[in-house]
Amino acid sequence: MFENLKNPPPDSLLALIKAFQEDRRAGKIDLGVGVYRDDSGRTPVMRAVKEAERILLETQDTKAYLGPEGDVEFVEALQAIIVGHYAPNIRGLQTPGGSGALRLGAELIAAARPSSRVWIGAPTWPNHGPVFQAGSATVAWYRYFDVATQTIMFNEMMEALSTAGRGDVVLLHGSCHNPTGADLDLRQWTEIAGLVAERGLVPFIDQAYHGLGRGLDDDVAGLRVILDAADEALIAYSCDKNFGLYRDRTGALFVKAPNAERADIIANTMANLARPNWSMPPDHGAALVRIIFQSDDLLHSWSSELVDMCARIRDVRQAVAGIEPRLAFLVDQRGLFSNLALSASQVESLRSRHGVYMAPSGRINLAGMRISDAGRLVAALNDVGALNPTL
Ligand SMILES: Cc1ncc(COP(=O)(O)O)c(C=O)c1O
Repeated sequence: MFENLKNPPPDSLLALIKAFQEDRRAGKIDLGVGVYRDDSGRTPVMRAVKEAERILLETQDTKAYLGPEGDVEFVEALQAIIVGHYAPNIRGLQTPGGSGALRLGAELIAAARPSSRVWIGAPTWPNHGPVFQAGSATVAWYRYFDVATQTIMFNEMMEALSTAGRGDVVLLHGSCHNPTGADLDLRQWTEIAGLVAERGLVPFIDQAYHGLGRGLDDDVAGLRVILDAADEALIAYSCDKNFGLYRDRTGALFVKAPNAERADIIANTMANLARPNWSMPPDHGAALVRIIFQSDDLLHSWSSELVDMCARIRDVRQAVAGIEPRLAFLVDQRGLFSNLALSASQVESLRSRHGVYMAPSGRINLAGMRISDAGRLVAALNDVGALNPTL
């Protein structure tokens, strides 16, 4: 039977990790992998998470199953920081990371309305298309961003979305757009909210970097605008970046319904769809987040460490742009990523000649570098002819 399997195409980011580890050059820079690093190159366990782990170790007295909805208090606490006000017709369910939330959302869409298309703006996180397709949703694409000019193609996006049919789904990055760092401003969110309401579209917000852009409230301001305008909406939330829980696979899917009766049916359907997938989500990360939300001290510790992480990313952006004015756009972009306009051969030369590693698309993770690397990065980009004179 297995002789029928063909090798899937290699994952370029995994190959990059391996090549980086094997590179013996002292000044190598890893801009490839999408995790936050501090200025000493570590991805730390956050202080509040460490403390919550100590509390969990001391207080947890059973590991019995929780049920397909996961840790209900975790889900409620997240809903409060996302939505910020009483919203009776929203239901949430804990998922294995943001990926699990997106996959479950795709399956929910396919179960509810198989004819709906999911509109995704390109470029995007490379897993978006595969996750929605694996969840049996039909994907439609529009252009979100022009890498050469570093601009959001807002008019083009609105034109594409105005051809979407009633009940079609619009996937939007809540903040810290991956891979471009180019977030919609509030005026643009408001325009999309108007279109969503007018055409009966269903927004699906992927909120994977909450608090890593402009701060906890500002990063969900657009989401709140669109949630208020839409009768139905989905939110895939990841705690893996903003709590540094990556491998603990911590997230949730939230769905807004027009009334309580429909919301309850959605909640039951989500639990029902989760059962044949992962049955029940992993507990550890969600329990830690719940413990953090239950303590003012831990909440304060977490949010202030998040502010520091955010400030470091901004400092790196400023350091690079300060040396090279043609990279000034980095300062206006938010979150871990920006997408440089590089050819495959320039990306390859950066790796082979300078030990600078990045995704073949030219996406760079600014949180992967030290501030003191800024000068060398700019020199390397210059050396491979990667700085577009018009920028
Ligand atoms: C835009 C976006 N959505 C979702 C995810 C999935 O996050 P998780 O690791 O929680 O599955 C990622 C992870 O890189 C992402 O960048």
